[in-house]
Amino acid sequence: MTGKAEAVRAMFTRIAARYDLMNSLMTGGQHHAWRRVAAAAVAPAPPGLALDLATGTGDLALAVRAARPAHSVVGADFSEAMLHHARVKLRARREERVPLLAADALGLPFRDATFACVTSAFLLRNLADLAAGLAEMARVTGRGGLVATLEITRPGLPGWDALFGLYFNRVVPLIGALVARDRAAYTYLPQSVERFVTPAGLAQLMTRAGLRNVHYRRLGLGTIALHVGTA
Ligand SMILES: C[S@@+](CC[C@H](N)C(=O)[O-])C[C@H]1O[C@@H](n2cnc3c(N)ncnc32)[C@H](O)[C@@H]1O
Repeated sequence: MTGKAEAVRAMFTRIAARYDLMNSLMTGGQHHAWRRVAAAAVAPAPPGLALDLATGTGDLALAVRAARPAHSVVGADFSEAMLHHARVKLRARREERVPLLAADALGLPFRDATFACVTSAFLLRNLADLAAGLAEMARVTGRGGLVATLEITRPGLPGWDALFGLYFNRVVPLIGALVARDRAAYTYLPQSVERFVTPAGLAQLMTRAGLRNVHYRRLGLGTIALHVGTA
């Protein structure tokens, strides 16, 4: 595992207990709606297992289960601490069709074409090798299956972009320091968004990874990009 991967895993392990609360505070609760839209995007995938990669505390896995009630969803993440919180949540909801396992997105322990659809939310900018991560997602998706990703992005609209930058770079680290007691993690968050490719650039990389008909739309007043491609 690379230095970046180790640092990312350690960071999510540190903030796991406050992760859900921070998401709700930072987004005013909107993050659940974005996950529902991502889940709806993979609902038309062929019958079969779904994979929610970097499932964290399991929210997108649950949204995909709700969107595809006949099918199970595997949740995978390389932070055992995040998976622990997912496990507690799944148990509280008596959800028995979301098996969880520890796995690295850059070397998934699944055969080619195992899944009918693969989702990930807020994973990609954390990867040490984005192209390799996208290739893994494409590899484990069966022909005709769907891959959907959610990521934070700069809205790119004059005025609103500056306001968003101010909120994200100044206010979010402060909330992170107060609530999660981890300013560093919530300073890394806006920095990682700043360094990440544009939505158009990500669409190109997904196509290069072997996905077809890649398209994207913006959610959350332009701050979230949902990309969908066909394997
Ligand atoms: C921002 S959280 C997103 C969690 C969840 N998808 C959500 O929507 O709330 C990023 C997650 O990606 C996981 N992660 C980052 N890099 C990973 C990798 N290489 N392999 C597996 N999981 C990874 C982290 O452990 C963390 O749980």
